[in-house]
Amino acid sequence: MILAGCGGNAEQADVSAASINAHPGKEIYDQYCYSCHNPGLNGAPRLGDAEAWAPRIAQGRAILLTSTLEGIAPAMPQRGLCLSCSDDDLAAAVDYMIEEGQ
Ligand code: HEC
Repeated sequence: MILAGCGGNAEQADVSAASINAHPGKEIYDQYCYSCHNPGLNGAPRLGDAEAWAPRIAQGRAILLTSTLEGIAPAMPQRGLCLSCSDDDLAAAVDYMIEEGQ
């Protein structure tokens, strides 16, 4: 009885945590990356555009992270213009873009 009760509570906690937010990187994306990556400004790969993302994803996540941190001259700014973002924040935003782009 007691064990079953604990298991039930843990499951409930998981479910509510998962339903609170969609993806940990979405908030950063919506705030800092959206303005270029939703319209595809200056050739930015658009969110959810699998064709545009396929060759980029094929480079591997590490390359995508490096280009996010360092930028790609001239059009992709260093750190996607989020100077207050930590490396982890930016990695979460990149993961969000990768997932949406598959
Ligand atoms: C001012 C516009 C702009 C903003 C803001 C911006 N990007 Fe970009 N991004 C671009 C452009 C343009 C490219 C394509 C650059 C190229 O391939 O020459 C790009 C490419 C990328 C790529 C692909 C890199 C690769 O190696 O192929 C990633 C990942 C990326 N951006 C992540 C982000 C993230 C994360 C943010 C927000 C924190 C962000 N960008 C904000 C314009 C922007």
